[in-house]
Amino acid sequence: MNREIGNITAGEHLSYWVSSSVPLAYQPLKKNTNTDVLIIGGGIAGLTTAYCLAKAGKSVILIEDGNIGSGESGRTTAHATCALDDRYYHIEQLHGKDKTAKVAASHMKAIAFIAGTVKNENIDCHYKTVDGYLFLHPTDTKENLEKEYEAARRAGVLTEMLEAIPALAAEEGKWCIRFREQGQFHIMHYLKGLADAVVKLGGEIYTQTHASKIDVHGATANGYDIKANHIVVATNSPVNDIFTMHTKQYPYRTYVIAAKIAKGTLPYSLWWDTGDQDSKWIAKPYHYVRLEEYDDQYDLLIAGGEDHKTGQADDEKIPEEARYDRLTEWARKRFPAMGDIAYRWSGQVLEPLDSLAFIGKNPGDENIYIITGDSGNGITHGTLGGIIVSDIIRGIPNEWAALYDPARITMSTAGDYIEEAANMAAQYGDWLDPGDVESMAEVRAGEGAIISVGLKKIAVFRDEEQKLHTYSAVCPHLGCVLQWNADEKSFDCPCHGSRFTKEGKVINGPAQSDLKKVGIRE
Ligand SMILES: Cc1cc2nc3c(=O)[nH]c(=O)nc-3n(C[C@H](O)[C@H](O)[C@H](O)COP(=O)(O)OP(=O)(O)OC[C@H]3O[C@@H](n4cnc5c(N)ncnc54)[C@H](O)[C@@H]3O)c2cc1C
Ligand code: FES
Repeated sequence: MNREIGNITAGEHLSYWVSSSVPLAYQPLKKNTNTDVLIIGGGIAGLTTAYCLAKAGKSVILIEDGNIGSGESGRTTAHATCALDDRYYHIEQLHGKDKTAKVAASHMKAIAFIAGTVKNENIDCHYKTVDGYLFLHPTDTKENLEKEYEAARRAGVLTEMLEAIPALAAEEGKWCIRFREQGQFHIMHYLKGLADAVVKLGGEIYTQTHASKIDVHGATANGYDIKANHIVVATNSPVNDIFTMHTKQYPYRTYVIAAKIAKGTLPYSLWWDTGDQDSKWIAKPYHYVRLEEYDDQYDLLIAGGEDHKTGQADDEKIPEEARYDRLTEWARKRFPAMGDIAYRWSGQVLEPLDSLAFIGKNPGDENIYIITGDSGNGITHGTLGGIIVSDIIRGIPNEWAALYDPARITMSTAGDYIEEAANMAAQYGDWLDPGDVESMAEVRAGEGAIISVGLKKIAVFRDEEQKLHTYSAVCPHLGCVLQWNADEKSFDCPCHGSRFTKEGKVINGPAQSDLKKVGIRE
């Protein structure tokens, strides 16, 4: 295995997981080839699919354009939970009681699958079975917590109401719901275990291998053809489809800090609040916390939250970088024993309109499959993706296939749909904005900006050697104007979440191509 770090990541900051593991790089594809199943994407969804199929004796090739885990999986916090971030009572309103019970069972199955795979494949990824605690955000009501408790129990989830939140300083004396038998682990060690197992079972993995054209015959990657009977697009945001799926899910950025805390101060557990009900965003941002083993003396307290729609941080007048300070303040109040912040990073989640991921045949296709709509439950959704898609390909009936079918009629609260659709449409108004700065001279070394030049929008990045890199700021997907993300040093699209490095390379779909270079004089 080639251990060199690839140059494609989903942002400037390295997560704790990536920083504390060897780069998972394989050889790039260098020849035409063929296989029964081609899987595009080396995150938890793609690798779980590859693992399930290779175990069933199928011939599989997995390609990944960065390293394994260089997408959102490497930036997760890896709570393996059935405490769903869209709330059971909401899912019940949208889908009814029977389907909600199926949803709960499917996420519990995903947790059991991860725990079982860790055991069967002997993966050293610090997997732990832990309790999780859902407590009220100050803007939420106890009635909602009670509603959630009742709905979760109706769905068959092991829950209890507690009169205090274990280990939380600032929330003493408040109610919470305990979710039993949840999981947590080190995601990169888990992905390595899956990748090792795939290779041992005869599967092939290629990294630094970008799929540029995907159709029913396979894909073109690095200029070579891969012919396949089945093609699984596990790229988080599907890159095979321009329109259909991207009106049914919405991209959000979410932020993480990690700080050392003396071992034994806190029990290994998961904590979540119920989200800011006053937030302007439909996906009410919530906080999520866990511990991870660090060394003999310390654990790492890992806290996340402060989400906003991609490319729209400024709409709340809270720049991306300021989100870490807010998160730190929130976490320190509740976990005062935590030390200095050792790691910080952010990532992206796709919030599906009706709270369920999209897993199965791509609408209109017979042999192309997608796994997307991860939401904050992408560890279980991604795992389910692997289980469901591999069953469909093998012709085995799967009890959850219809539930997650990408072609299902997506229902939502009407207001939510209208608001998200209006937000998407409003982003085209950025064409009229004057830009971040008036001239290139204002862009400092290591920074980027969007500038208006006549009727054109230009994405500018000035490197440390003072060299200017200039691209069209028009998103190659459907033409929205990109925004500069000063925190992860990327150009982000506020419409459907495509993202590009400061060198103009595409890192998140649905866009499939890099930004167009333009020649502009300073
Ligand atoms: C900060 C953060 C915290 C989170 N916390 C949790 C949590 O605690 N619990 C939970 O359940 N979920 C959580 N999630 C969500 C979860 O981590 C993700 O949904 C999940 O990891 C996504 O996995 P994936 O395989 O779908 O996508 P990815 O991991 O993004 O994998 C897709 C891969 O496809 C590759 N790719 C893209 N285009 C191409 C192409 N054209 N050719 C080749 N390769 C390509 C990418 O490089 C990428 O590696 C969190 C997410 C974030 C960002
Ligand atoms: S991601 Fe759709 S226009 Fe940019």
